[in-house]
Amino acid sequence: MDGELIPKAADILRKAKRVAALTGAGISAESGVPTFRGKDGLWRQFRAEDLASPEAFARDPKLVWEWYDWRRRLIAGCAPNPGHNTLAKWEKVIPDFILITQNVDGLHPLAGTTNLLELHGNIWKVRCVNDGAVSDNRDVPLREIPPRCPDCGALLRPHIVWFGEMLDQAVVGRAFAASAACEVMLVVGTSAIVHPAASLPLYAAEAGAVIIEINPDPTPLTPHADVSLRGPAGEILPLIDREF
Ligand code: OAD
Repeated sequence: MDGELIPKAADILRKAKRVAALTGAGISAESGVPTFRGKDGLWRQFRAEDLASPEAFARDPKLVWEWYDWRRRLIAGCAPNPGHNTLAKWEKVIPDFILITQNVDGLHPLAGTTNLLELHGNIWKVRCVNDGAVSDNRDVPLREIPPRCPDCGALLRPHIVWFGEMLDQAVVGRAFAASAACEVMLVVGTSAIVHPAASLPLYAAEAGAVIIEINPDPTPLTPHADVSLRGPAGEILPLIDREF
């Protein structure tokens, strides 16, 4: 990587008052959470796409919950890494900093980020399929699979946006507003192919924002990035912070 790029990114961020960050599974990779499309993305013989769907849940809620129980156990053993911690720190030093994440693992709030939009939900929340009531559930392992609503006995489902489902329009609206308003957008650890999240940096760029991408591999966003930092988020973000 060009050695000048780290100070360049730090300089851009230091001068900015409004910064938005968009993160994906890659920021949690160094914490041990498998990415969706990486080689560790499989469970048994299933791909995430075959389990994270309303059809899969209707067909076999037990199987889908077994997969989530496995993911919850795995994530419960993971801690935020220097990438999450650096973004939590920047929220405190940059006047207007918002973090938009596609991750459901809850590691950003654990690192201390508070101004957070969780586009795809949170794996530590469950929702009653009957009345839509959302509650926290941190049981690891789950006490029963599939879990049931303590109030009405209906099935509980993960409070997660599945393939084929609509995102919470209020959350999406705030994410697009933040993207339009920011001077700089940091795009960290996302393959930038799942919409609408992948549209946010393009929307920000059209509105005049500088785009900084951090990812070990090129993505469809890379040609649109003003600064492209090739490497792991847990190393690159602290390096930028040192120059901040
Ligand atoms: P993906 O698994 O598609 O992409 C992960 C990205 O992280 C890839 O571009 C990797 O190159 C990059 N990466 C890997 N290790 C990294 C590291 N140490 N530092 C930085 N980047 C690294 O995950 P997402 O883009 O988050 O949706 O996927 C988007 C959505 O698709 C997910 O939220 C999920 C999935 O289906 C739902 O669950 C609704």
